[in-house]
This record gives sequence, structure tokens and C-alpha cells, in this order.
Amino acid sequence: MKSVFPYDSVELSPNGREVVILDQTQLPNQERFLHLTSAEQIFYAITRLKVRGAPAIGIAAAFGLAMCVNRYRTRTVQALEKEFLRVKHYLYISRPTAVNLMWALDRMERCFYSTKQNLETADDKHAIGALRKALTAEARAIKAEDVRMCETISKFGFSLLHPGCGILTHCNAGHLAVSKFGTALGPIYLAQQKGYLPHVFCDETRPLLQGARLTAYELSKAGIDVTLICDNMAATLMSQGKVDFVFVGCDRVAANGDVANKIGTNGVAIIAKYYKVPLYVFAPTSTIDFNCKQGADIVIEERPAFEVTDMYYSKPMAPRGIQVYNPAFDVTPASLIAGIVTEKGIIKPREIKNLKKLK
Ligand code: MRU
Repeated sequence: MKSVFPYDSVELSPNGREVVILDQTQLPNQERFLHLTSAEQIFYAITRLKVRGAPAIGIAAAFGLAMCVNRYRTRTVQALEKEFLRVKHYLYISRPTAVNLMWALDRMERCFYSTKQNLETADDKHAIGALRKALTAEARAIKAEDVRMCETISKFGFSLLHPGCGILTHCNAGHLAVSKFGTALGPIYLAQQKGYLPHVFCDETRPLLQGARLTAYELSKAGIDVTLICDNMAATLMSQGKVDFVFVGCDRVAANGDVANKIGTNGVAIIAKYYKVPLYVFAPTSTIDFNCKQGADIVIEERPAFEVTDMYYSKPMAPRGIQVYNPAFDVTPASLIAGIVTEKGIIKPREIKNLKKLK
């Protein structure tokens, strides 16, 4: 499978001292890359959605942690460890819903301590060098695995499709949200490469317009036939028989198969069930949280009011001071999901718990 994009949305510079991200808040108008060199810049980029999408957030945090360790000046392992933990705990709370963030940071911590344990007889200078090297390699491995995982997920998702099919997607679970191919959009890129000529409808995805600004942007740039719709138009399309599948990404899968994804996904799932359109959720196993029993236990991020009333509008579009409720995600119950497409295969939501045994 070949990537149609010449760049990745998150990268670690070759010397490991800068995290380079494509600023997704500037899309579709500008492709602007930011070179981040501090924990505060990484935190800000994640909270303001300059880098976004569950896997990309995890990769950015892992790269950020490696970058901070590489830049931190010290002569003692003890000080390096203190700084490592400070940055790790700080980035851990940058966004609450996507479990990939915590998953990637915990993995970096395990790497720190397993490396440190093997270095007990080394002097501080050598130990610091070895820790920097190991953490940088671990962060790069997280990204490389993500690329491979997306490729496998894309193949499983592609096996569901037929030539000329219509797919509805919500938010952005594509190249921009992951490392190369995307999760929910990966099969669509593959279908295009295989001559299936899929037709994609993308929800604009209020309030931050990830569908309009990002999905419409990346799919049209790749030459895919894509039509933008407002979030309240999905039922009309489905009633007209134009949608064969709904493909969405996800931020956390609970052990009972409930899924948290961008706000509005649950509404689409309810409509899809009514019109008998199968909805598939694309989730690398790093997005499954076996410690979370059910969807109701997933922490849903609430975001500021101005994103609903002002952002992306040239003038405020609601009365000043109006009360606003702005949850960034919702939970789709397992019963509305036809299948969860993972790198281990397509599984029924209720079978999620069996995946643990395969680990
Ligand atoms: O708030 P965002 O833009 O980070 O939300 C992103 C989503 O909801 C995506 O669907 C999800 O992270 C999956 S990305 C492969």
C-alpha cells in the first residue's frame, strides 16, 4: 500500500531534538509545519488540536517525551528521571478521552525503567546516553508500529467494500490523525488504489469541523470522490440508499465493546441502525482499554464555549454569554456497531474481551 502524501502529520527530527507537526488548525488553507522544542509547546499543540486524532496524539506525546529527555541538560540519572516523570505526568492530562495518549506515555515509562534497570553498573554519563537512545528508539517504534497497524487495518476494512460503494464517515480518522494511511480512511485509500472508485460522504463534524477541514481536504487531495454534508443530513442520504457503510475511527473502546468517538458518532450510529446500514469502528488494539468496563466509565472531554459560538465564524453566531454545552466525544453502545476493525481482524464488539487473551 502506498501513501499518497509526501509528509507525515507528526515526526521526530533526525537528531531527536524537535517534534515536527503539521498544524491541523491551519488546514485546509495552509500547510504549516511547527517545530516543537518544549513540553509546554507539545501540551499546547495537543490541547488546541494542532495535532489531533487518537493515534497521532499518542505518537506526539511519545516523541515529545523523547525530545524533552534529549534536550534536558543534566549530569545525573536521578535528575533525568525527575524531569522524565514531570513531563510524562504533565502530558498525561493534555486530553482525557483518547486512551492512546496514556497508552503511549505508559509504554515510554516502562522503557525508561527497563533500560535503567539494565544500567545499574554504568556511570551516569553512559546511563544518560543509553536512556536517551532507548527512549528515542521506543518513540520511533510506536510510530512505526502504528504505520504497520494502519496498513493491516486498511486491508481488513477493504475486504468489506465493493466497487462503487458509498461510505459515510464522521470526523477525521485518516492520514492526518494517524501516521500514514489512517484507520477508517485507510480502506478507502486502498479501494481507490484498486480501482473500486468509492464515493465518500463526510460529515462536517461540528463544532471543530474535522470533517470539512480535514477529511474533505485529505480525501480530495488524494483524488477521491468526496461530498461534504452537514451533520444533520446523514438520515436523508441513508433514506436515499446512498450509503452502504459507515466507517468511523475511535478514541477508546471499553471492555464491553462500547466505543467513544467524536461527538455525533452515536447519532449517526442510531440513524444507521434504523436504515440498516452497517457501522464499522476502526480501532488499533492500542485504543482498547481493558481497564474500562463500559462506555459510561469513559471520561468525556468538555471543551470551551467559544469553539461552538465563535471559532471558524467571522462574527459570533450566538448571543454573547449564551450557555453552551460542548462535549467533544460521545459513546456509541456496542449494540449499534456491526464490527470493530482491528489489526487482529474484524471482531464483534462483544468479543473485545477475547482479544485480551491474544495479547
Ligand atoms: O478531537 P479530535 O479531532 O482529536 O477527535 C478525533 C476523533 O474523534 C477520531 O475519530 C479518533 O481520534 C480516531 S483517529 C484514527
